[in-house]
Amino acid sequence: MIEAGYNKYIKVLVTGASGFIGRKLCLTLAEMGYQVVGLCRNINHPFLIQHRNIQFIKGDVMDELSLQKAMKDCTGVYHTAAMAKMWCRNEQDFYDINVVGTRNVLECALNLGVNRVVHTSTCGVWGPTLNLPVAEDDPRAVGFPISYERTKYLAELEVRNYVKKGLDVVIVNPSRVYGDGPITDSNTVSKMVTGYIKGTWHFIPGKGTQVANYVFVDDVVNGQISAMQNGLIGERYILGGEDVSFNGFFKTLRELTGKKRRLYKVPLKLIKAYSVIEHFKSKLFGLTPFFLPEFADRLKFNQQYNSGKAIKELNYRITPFAVGLSKTIHHFQKNT
Ligand SMILES: NC(=O)c1ccc[n+]([C@@H]2O[C@H](COP(=O)([O-])OP(=O)(O)OC[C@H]3O[C@@H](n4cnc5c(N)ncnc54)[C@H](OP(=O)(O)O)[C@@H]3O)[C@@H](O)[C@H]2O)c1
Repeated sequence: MIEAGYNKYIKVLVTGASGFIGRKLCLTLAEMGYQVVGLCRNINHPFLIQHRNIQFIKGDVMDELSLQKAMKDCTGVYHTAAMAKMWCRNEQDFYDINVVGTRNVLECALNLGVNRVVHTSTCGVWGPTLNLPVAEDDPRAVGFPISYERTKYLAELEVRNYVKKGLDVVIVNPSRVYGDGPITDSNTVSKMVTGYIKGTWHFIPGKGTQVANYVFVDDVVNGQISAMQNGLIGERYILGGEDVSFNGFFKTLRELTGKKRRLYKVPLKLIKAYSVIEHFKSKLFGLTPFFLPEFADRLKFNQQYNSGKAIKELNYRITPFAVGLSKTIHHFQKNT
């Protein structure tokens, strides 16, 4: 845990305060003694955490005036708001919120003389990995079929542009985040955990050998705060956790919950065929798809990321997967 009492950035803004990560970040900062301003689109949002050090301001990253109001007198800004979903009805929203919204936040920070912005990106900007865990300087191996990843990558280009203009921005790139908290669209791991607990999750993609990197939400929050305190301008830091296969994921779930569920290994070709039907369903009827072809294709690849730079430069610490998952299960067993 990061030491409290480091007061260089006393009043800080968190965008995306109602989000899975943003709400935890607000709470942690508030408990450390910071005056936190939480930007949210709905001031009565049920996920907002109430604390005497947190003040919520209604706003939108697309509304520059609301950003100015929220950012006034803030010395630090944590930009976590995003369209962090697999799909949305209006495709343009990905670009508007993730790219234009980020630009608006950066422009406002530059104009108001904010000391530092920590921009929350994603490991999705590197996408699938081939043989080895990807590190910050590695190139992306494939194109950008996924709108979320493409627009988060474009948002990083906005950051680079503002760094050139003199704004102090540090980027953090979490991998696949899991942990206690509300189940939002961005939070696929929680859907797997709660589905397994309830007995409604029945499948493992392919042979279950595909590996992904899972990071506990508290580690991400500590990494964001450490990036504000210790990160270097213009740098990006992977905030990852352990690399775990689907088989390993469900084996750990079984051991920790004590529940033995029947899980079926579904061939990737069948998942792809199903995802194509889902795609047409969403195109024709505007219905939310369960899965999309570009994500089905992704299941062929591993997604392994190396957090070495953050460990070295931000004193970043990784919660062991079994420990984080145990806390997550406990949370859902208590709250669902
Ligand atoms: N969860 C993950 O696995 C993961 C992994 C890597 C990176 N990330 C990144 O981490 C950040 C937070 O993700 P999350 O998991 O907390 O996502 P989330 O739960 O979906 O939260 C997104 C937040 O952004 C807000 N938001 C969306 N559009 C907005 C707008 N136009 N103006 C103001 N606020 C807006 C949402 O507000 P509403 O409640 O009003 O919708 C919500 O508070 C994102 O930048 C995401 O790309 C997440």
